[in-house]
Amino acid sequence: MEKIKTLRGFRDIYGEEVEKLRLIETTSRKYFELFGYREIIIPVLENTGLFIRSIGDTTDIVEKEMFTFKDLSGESVTLRPEATAGIVRAYLETGMFAKERVSKLFSIGPMFRHERPQKGRYREFRQIDVEVFGIDDPMIDAELIWMTSFILKEIGLEKYAIEVNSVGCPVCRTNFKNIIVDYFEAKEENLCDDCKRRLRKNPLRIFDCKNKQCKEIGAASPVLFDNLCDSCKIHFYGFLEYLNTLKLNVSINKRLVRGLDYYTRTVFEFISNELGAQNAFLAGGRYNNLVEAMGGPNVPGIGFAIGMERLAMLIDKTVKKATPQFFFAYLGDRAKAFIIPFMERFIEKNLKLSYLPQAKSLKSQMRYADAIKADYVLILGDDEIEKNIIVVRDMAKGNQFNIPLDNLALIQNLSAFLEK
Ligand code: HAM
Repeated sequence: MEKIKTLRGFRDIYGEEVEKLRLIETTSRKYFELFGYREIIIPVLENTGLFIRSIGDTTDIVEKEMFTFKDLSGESVTLRPEATAGIVRAYLETGMFAKERVSKLFSIGPMFRHERPQKGRYREFRQIDVEVFGIDDPMIDAELIWMTSFILKEIGLEKYAIEVNSVGCPVCRTNFKNIIVDYFEAKEENLCDDCKRRLRKNPLRIFDCKNKQCKEIGAASPVLFDNLCDSCKIHFYGFLEYLNTLKLNVSINKRLVRGLDYYTRTVFEFISNELGAQNAFLAGGRYNNLVEAMGGPNVPGIGFAIGMERLAMLIDKTVKKATPQFFFAYLGDRAKAFIIPFMERFIEKNLKLSYLPQAKSLKSQMRYADAIKADYVLILGDDEIEKNIIVVRDMAKGNQFNIPLDNLALIQNLSAFLEK
């Protein structure tokens, strides 16, 4: 019978990649806790209108990448393509905005975008998302980058670059739009059909176009960065000063634009050239008008999202286990009777012990120990029981030694020996 397979762009994740994703998650959680962020869990499925209103109806995400369908009651629903929109909705719907002056939140989970799959680009992918509501001071913009640098350092990532830019506010954008429309209009016949439309509806989106000719025209255009209003300039240079104080190396990419419409002022991306075309493994920015645009009060916001699979691709070393993995290999029924007391002792001591309930031979048990990457194998047979010893095999070093077999003392003996 023909087998049913995963959908295009959807994947099963297992083995080492899962360990890397877990490492990213636990390390992030550790620093979120230290920096005062609280977790929020939001739905995966939302009203389609939520994303259209927040991400913007002329963005690629909304125009072509959403998993949107009618549910059984005929309502148009969408699998979330990102988390910011849902978190803003929740911030308003739960009344959080009225209860606290500042809200620092994070959320972890899968996102869905109907993009063309390629290396580092999937239709289901995971993000660690961080959002801060209620602070306009650029110190928080820098703090987000600072916090991230702790996470990446602990994960062991060294080679990456941080690009920053300011995309201004509605004031500078209105002025700039005229400049840019004049520029693109003069070159309109060379733009792709999509960009001709964007020129009327949302000219700044032309910078997002992947068409080669549009890219070239875009690359030579005037930039918003050179046309920022005074307060946006002050904000951006304040941000740079904090980054400098924190000794964080960033480069200004005046052409950095983001694929979502809600951004104002600060935007940033963490990139690595080991990733190929999809080189950003973390991206974010400020969205000072989004909360209000979603029907809330005038509260500024800023945040970012880590692309977990992309970051996992950059962790090349195998993830170090927190505690060693033990495996118990037994020969015969007398030895098998030690499984339960051993397991009880190991669990009590938070140590990992594994065994095969239906073991046929020592060879098959050793093969299994290899497969589960056991660090130490404890071997017990009738001989050892007679002599009141157990054999401990160090799998990395390939040597083995005996220690006294004493049910209750086993763990103490083991730890004493392993510490030597
Ligand atoms: P984004 O740039 O669309 O921003 O996505 C953030 C990160 O998610 C990207 O840098 C990338 O690492 C990862 N990512 C995006 N699409 C895919 C995909 N198809 N496959 C694998 N990874 C992907 C946002 O989503 C904003 N909500 C970030 C934000 C939070 N801004 C403010 N607050």
